[in-house]
Amino acid sequence: MNEAANWVRVAAADDIPPGEMQAVDAGGHQVALFHLEDGTWHATSNICTHAFALLTDGWLDGTTIECPLHAGRFDVCTGKATGAPAEEDLAVFPVRIEAGAVMLGVPK
Ligand code: FES
Repeated sequence: MNEAANWVRVAAADDIPPGEMQAVDAGGHQVALFHLEDGTWHATSNICTHAFALLTDGWLDGTTIECPLHAGRFDVCTGKATGAPAEEDLAVFPVRIEAGAVMLGVPK
């Protein structure tokens, strides 16, 4: 158990097929939830660090999310900014699957 986080149910795992993403709201955080083609789950802040855009309105290609506004790119596994004009990394959140539910670890 990760005691640094409150675990919150944010979705049913079956509702988000591999290669898809979903915007979720958890503990006051706007979060982008990613189910990658390899079956792994990742979560980052959904708000681009460059200006203001929701990343889930952009394009997911492998492990890269491209911002819909100025095409900044981030690695969804690490939150790292990988393409200009994005320079600041995204916050990332731990994800686990529990009895078919997607659980997100939100900082206490
Ligand atoms: S708001 Fe995302 S790259 Fe500018």
